[in-house]
Amino acid sequence: MAFEDKIKELLKKRELAKLGGGQKRIDAQHQKGKLTARERLELLLDDGSFEEFDMFVTHRCTEFGLEKKQFYSDGVVTGYGTIDGRVVYVFAQDFTVFGGSLSLAYAEKICKIMDKALKMGAPVIGLNDSGGARIQEGVNSLAGYAEIFQRNIMASGVIPQISGIFGPCAGGAVYSPALTDFSVMTKENSYMFLTGPKVVKTVTGEDVTEQELGGAMTHGTKSGVAHFIADDEREGILLIRKLLSFLPQNNLEEPPLEPCDDPIDRLEDELNTIIPENPNKPYNVKDIIYSVVDNSEFLEVQRTYAPNIVTGFARFNGMSVGIVANQPNYLAGVLDINASRKAARFVRFCDAFNIPLVTFVDVPGFLPGTIQEYGGIIIHGAKLLFAYGEATVPKVTVILRKAYGGAYCVMSSKHLRGDINYAWPMAEIAVMGPKGATEVLRNKEIKAIENEEEKAEFIAKHEAEYVKKFATPYSAAKYGYIDDVIEPRNTRFRVIRALQSLATKKDVNPPKKHTNIPL
Ligand code: HXC
Repeated sequence: MAFEDKIKELLKKRELAKLGGGQKRIDAQHQKGKLTARERLELLLDDGSFEEFDMFVTHRCTEFGLEKKQFYSDGVVTGYGTIDGRVVYVFAQDFTVFGGSLSLAYAEKICKIMDKALKMGAPVIGLNDSGGARIQEGVNSLAGYAEIFQRNIMASGVIPQISGIFGPCAGGAVYSPALTDFSVMTKENSYMFLTGPKVVKTVTGEDVTEQELGGAMTHGTKSGVAHFIADDEREGILLIRKLLSFLPQNNLEEPPLEPCDDPIDRLEDELNTIIPENPNKPYNVKDIIYSVVDNSEFLEVQRTYAPNIVTGFARFNGMSVGIVANQPNYLAGVLDINASRKAARFVRFCDAFNIPLVTFVDVPGFLPGTIQEYGGIIIHGAKLLFAYGEATVPKVTVILRKAYGGAYCVMSSKHLRGDINYAWPMAEIAVMGPKGATEVLRNKEIKAIENEEEKAEFIAKHEAEYVKKFATPYSAAKYGYIDDVIEPRNTRFRVIRALQSLATKKDVNPPKKHTNIPL
């Protein structure tokens, strides 16, 4: 063959590969409101930056007549490109080829880019849209999945791993996204479950739709499996780009520093009055976050799951930080099982990737009750405690109002190696609230009073005494547990100063194989 013809042959093969499972299947994909694997990668990566690997890979299966059905790329598009100029490794499952199902060759393609990403110290982004294990490949497909899982595990805490779920993701296939750091789902067309509605009906008798069982709203509100819910794929892909802007390339790098045009000494007068005089009245802690971070930009993680705690990324003077804040607007900001798990995982992610933690505290304690105790709140609460205690990144804490009981200890207190701990003047730091304390300490005296009016007067008097003594930040400041009591409107400046002073922080944990975090 003449060289010219060889080039023509190459170009023809490329065109064929780009068609995946063929135009008919591409049209069907579009009709469902879904993009193709290549269209997704085009949106995700900087223009013209994509370098594809293994375009000419085909499967090697000879069962069920599959040797006659060959498609270049074999159902997954892999390679690398850049996002905002930084290298990322990517794979996008192609539903137009065997429903995006995973063969051994397909798994090898994913493993190749994961190995490269780990060597190069660059994030991996996987866009999922697949019918799971390719049934005709039998155990080879399962082996392929397990090889991917192993790499997810090795890469955990070394390079950021992000999953977009833009179609089906079922059976054991769900475990790769579950092993990654963040999952983005879309409101339609995206679902994840171990066993589908038919199996559920057979085993438990429940009638449930795909969306009810494993759609974005289910995983975004009930299970916590999804970290972000996007209206559609375009929004989901932009979210992934935005998320990466807060993260370093790997665990040996610092997060990127952005130029900041928001004055660091900006005073926010309304913060002086944002906390209601009545300690039982709620307010929205996100108003505080938005007013102190750079340009009011806050990328919230798991926004609709356990909203009693708020987690997300923001910047202070261009420095990327992870924010954790109790949310008095929902269940009074109490710590329960879901909130503890959510925040613990977030704190550990930030610590693994050198992202400083800023914690805003307003917590009345842990949620009491049988549901919580039977559900293991002891173990789950311990996760958050453990996460803060083992974290060696800079930790800045601001107690806004309540910091009661064990929850005071947990929420990045001085005693868990909090570096700089501030409190607002309206902070209340104590073992429990005035009402509970009075009931315990004066129980016998209260019982002895028969007249109801006298009883109420007695309780009120002792509550007031307790408030005066303990419902202030000064009893903690007296012992140095609070480094300073700060004026609320000055919070942005004080947090930035604190973070600047901690930029050179070095702290190490004792050498060990790994911890034994309460799971
Ligand atoms: C081989 C598959 C496939 C699979 C789909 N296809 N799933 N081929 N192995 N797992 C093929 C179909 O035969 C069809 O081929 C094409 O992909 C599109 O599929 P449709 O069914 O027409 O599409 P749709 O109606 O949109 O339904 C999508 C679907 C459904 C819901 C994903 O295909 C489905 O239920 N697939 C099986 C899912 C499953 O049970 N997977 C195994 C899970 S267990 P043609 O040629 O007609 O276009 C698992 C274990 C992993 O994954 C364990 C890891 C440890």
